[in-house]
Amino acid sequence: MTHPPRSIEAIRARLASVGQEHLLRFWDQLTPDRQSNLVSELERIDTSGLPRLIERYVHAKPEFALPERLSPAPYYPLDVNSTRKPWDRQQFRSLGEQALRRGKVACFTVAGGQGTRLGFNGPKGCFPAGAVTGKSLFAIFAEGIAGAERRYGQPVPWYIMTSPLNHDDTVEYFQRSYHFGLDPANIMFFPQGVMPSFDMTTGRILLAEPWQPATNPDGHGGSFKALWVSGAVADMKRRGIEHLSYFQVDNPMVRVIDPVFIGLHVGAADSSAEMSSKMLPKASPAEKVGVFCVGNGRTMIIEYSDLPSTLAEQRLDDGSLRFNAGSPAIHMVGVSFIEKLNSDPAFELPFHRAEKKVSFIDDSGDRVNPEKPNAVKLERFVFDALPFCKASIVMETSRDDEFAPIKNASGDDSAQSSARLQTRRAAAWFEQVGVRVPRRSDGEPDCTLEISPLTAWGPEDLRGLDLPSVIEPGAKLAI
Ligand code: UD1
Repeated sequence: MTHPPRSIEAIRARLASVGQEHLLRFWDQLTPDRQSNLVSELERIDTSGLPRLIERYVHAKPEFALPERLSPAPYYPLDVNSTRKPWDRQQFRSLGEQALRRGKVACFTVAGGQGTRLGFNGPKGCFPAGAVTGKSLFAIFAEGIAGAERRYGQPVPWYIMTSPLNHDDTVEYFQRSYHFGLDPANIMFFPQGVMPSFDMTTGRILLAEPWQPATNPDGHGGSFKALWVSGAVADMKRRGIEHLSYFQVDNPMVRVIDPVFIGLHVGAADSSAEMSSKMLPKASPAEKVGVFCVGNGRTMIIEYSDLPSTLAEQRLDDGSLRFNAGSPAIHMVGVSFIEKLNSDPAFELPFHRAEKKVSFIDDSGDRVNPEKPNAVKLERFVFDALPFCKASIVMETSRDDEFAPIKNASGDDSAQSSARLQTRRAAAWFEQVGVRVPRRSDGEPDCTLEISPLTAWGPEDLRGLDLPSVIEPGAKLAI
């Protein structure tokens, strides 16, 4: 299909008015197909908002404004008898289970990230994560969902946000894997939005190809809009889903469904049931996790890169960190909260600016692979919605039980560290039901273990199973 000259002239004029006409520099050399591709890409860019965006985020580097009144956020502690805030775990477990038995809860995974740090070629959810089986992240989450469906006798629909870059690969992977035994009718994939990537010095949108502007996924904060425009929220309402269990694609130990957390979110006196969060005590002041704070009266997460080290390092009299509530990026989100945000035309989450290396086509048509950051990428963060809640609660979870993310190719937060943590957790559970686990002199298990979330959500589920009484040193055991 060729494009009528008049429409391309209109696009050219629109781009020229905001200093972006270079995007059409190679127009005359493109095949009709590629011209068509370029036009549809350009039509997606909101040119009217570009000058302000570039001024504010590319030419300027907006400083994060720390709220004037900032204190650590309170939370429901893991130890329910703690004087900090005693609470009745069983009461909230029952409430959460009620919601599950009534089919009110779905899972929501944000899987649109580019996984650059991991260096894995493909959607990150396909990464082999099981310590023994090498099952993928998606496969492990699917087993957790199947486990919930079995326990509560209701489908737990699964919404998966991809990006235009990995959508088709993700869908194909699920098809190839027979949706891990889940009913495909209960899984919905939808791509998130993208933002153009800008040249850091000129503010011009980079060309990834002569027929394609460079873009990046608009951050997991883009999910509030993507859930809406994709029809996912409409689908939830049709099914009677009221709450989403939100988790990132990188943590194979996440409890994809946690009745206690669901119960607190829907029923705690200080919860608005709009958006709730889990926290875990930070491992060190420099750990790269966002931190829960109360700023000007609102619960919020301050990203690790925005928390000044003077605050990150502050300690209480007992030596613990004052700002110790780290975010494992696990939330409950009310469907009506997503609706509320989207029905306000002025609603917008802020952008966060990151400087990245982006390869591009220069004005002479040559590809440039920069050696240092040349581009600005803009992303929205999902947790910036927390201050929009009427009230928002935080619940402590156990790091040992629920946090083993895979983010890097090696070292901390890698497949190796995750396998170690999966083994540690499984060893602790096995020992609680009397299985002897071999341990090295440093106390670490001398074996590799993996417990599927289809088999058990905790040691209590291991009772009555046919387990070995002793695990041999060096053994690899998956159940
Ligand atoms: C994230 C959190 C941090 C938290 C930590 C816990 C952010 C900005 N920071 O850090 O507060 O303590 O996890 O592990 O999230 N994603 C999309 N679309 C995008 C970008 C990301 O779906 O456009 C998804 C990724 O697939 C991934 C998740 O969001 O599942 C996290 O993204 P990432 O940028 O890796 O955040 P982290 O630095 O790991």
